[in-house]
Amino acid sequence: MSTKRYAVCGLSNRGLAAFVHPLMGLTGGRADGVLGYGGVSDDLSGSAQVVALVDSDPRRLDGFNAQLRAAGAAELPRYSPDAFDRMIDEAAPDAVIVTSPDSTHEAYIVAALARGVEVITEKPMVSSAAAARSVLAAERDSAAGVRVTHNLRYARTHREIKRMILGGAIGAVTRVTLDYHVDVRHGASYFTRWNRQRAHGGLAVHKCCHHFDLVTWLVGQEPVEIFGYGALNYYGPRSPHRPRVPAGPDGGGGADASAGPPTADPYLPGLRATGVVADGAGGQARTGLFGLPYAEQYPADRPMYIYDDAIDIEDTYSAVVAYAGGASLGYSIDFSSTWEGYRLGISGTHGSIEMLHGRGLDGEPLPGSDTIALAPLFGERSTVHVDAPSGEHAGADPEMRRDLFVGQSAESRELGLAASSLEGAWAVALGEGLWRSCVEHRPFTVAELLG
Ligand SMILES: NC(=O)c1ccc[n+]([C@@H]2O[C@H](COP(=O)([O-])OP(=O)(O)OC[C@H]3O[C@@H](n4cnc5c(N)ncnc54)[C@H](O)[C@@H]3O)[C@@H](O)[C@H]2O)c1
Repeated sequence: MSTKRYAVCGLSNRGLAAFVHPLMGLTGGRADGVLGYGGVSDDLSGSAQVVALVDSDPRRLDGFNAQLRAAGAAELPRYSPDAFDRMIDEAAPDAVIVTSPDSTHEAYIVAALARGVEVITEKPMVSSAAAARSVLAAERDSAAGVRVTHNLRYARTHREIKRMILGGAIGAVTRVTLDYHVDVRHGASYFTRWNRQRAHGGLAVHKCCHHFDLVTWLVGQEPVEIFGYGALNYYGPRSPHRPRVPAGPDGGGGADASAGPPTADPYLPGLRATGVVADGAGGQARTGLFGLPYAEQYPADRPMYIYDDAIDIEDTYSAVVAYAGGASLGYSIDFSSTWEGYRLGISGTHGSIEMLHGRGLDGEPLPGSDTIALAPLFGERSTVHVDAPSGEHAGADPEMRRDLFVGQSAESRELGLAASSLEGAWAVALGEGLWRSCVEHRPFTVAELLG
């Protein structure tokens, strides 16, 4: 069987876990937990080959090649971002996989399309509506195309709901409610990473794009307009949780030394548990899931803390989205919740669908999680429980990888699981429309954002 050649741009946590390791067949896991990602079940080395790595941090590239050497595997050719064209000449990839920070996607996508090379990009496709416009224009001028890894579509529960809608179980969709909760650990972790700044798009684009894409895909209508409110309520210098102690973890900034009895940071134990804040004196660059240092992105002498002044995004949103076919979405999210997951409700002209997906801080599923309730308007309500694997985004990632790297399944074609650049652009536009709506206090149409 012939294997397709892939270059990975961005040796990120996500790039390693979702693409490099499975594509290289590093699925077994090792005692040191570095090569091989415990949760990855699929070995795609029979149909895919990683032929080059691009990253702006040479220490991460060196570190990964050292891991390969130690495992007796061949090192991979490695390139800096400005050597992208040379990489295409030398490595001759069939496609590039873009897994760098959101604000850096546009440059790779546009450069690959200009060379006629296929693109698979992580969500969000890009970090702004202007960048989405430039990708759509570049794709129009290229023989190659763009696929966006909107993996949430692939969760078993969502496929089941999409099948119900396509089968006419609730008639024409009229409204959706999606109430999303990101828990205190996961939520706080974003505010110690690049995601916390608008220059990278912010969480309205980075995180909410998942949810906007999911709803747009389920509803099957084009998004037209968004209006929302939002604020920074939990993190940043004015957080009500900001401790009154002299310094944050590792001497990090942000602690409020003003009058009042000393208090401790309530987020800190969770942040330490997620590994994004080191325990102790520091002095070393943070490492990600795979023991590779983020020497450039998170240098040891510039610790990030959740109360820093540099945070310039919101952590709470409520929004309304209008769709072209008359449906509407009521959406809300916050990034400091006591549980992780969401309540989804979809009403149609002939019935409704409801589902809860969630787990508590103890990691246990909430009662009723992943049970879909289908209620015809004038008939018997029924429920179906969907068993979802716990890892890899409830099993969505391996399904998506099979589609991307082995071949699109009949189910994928029937449900329209693969996300196009236009769908990627809609999700980005809704994300930008949301935060701009918070700032400018007016609705934004997708047409004005995407041109
Ligand atoms: N689909 C999902 O469920 C999912 C989950 C997590 C992350 N993501 C996406 O994956 C991507 C990576 O996110 P992450 O949190 O894993 O990243 P990360 O912070 O772990 O790593 C970022 C990597 O990119 C490198 N980098 C920085 N600038 C670069 C540039 N210009 N060119 C090449 N490399 C550069 C850094 O050195 C680092 O190796 C993002 O687009 C994110 O939105 C998707």
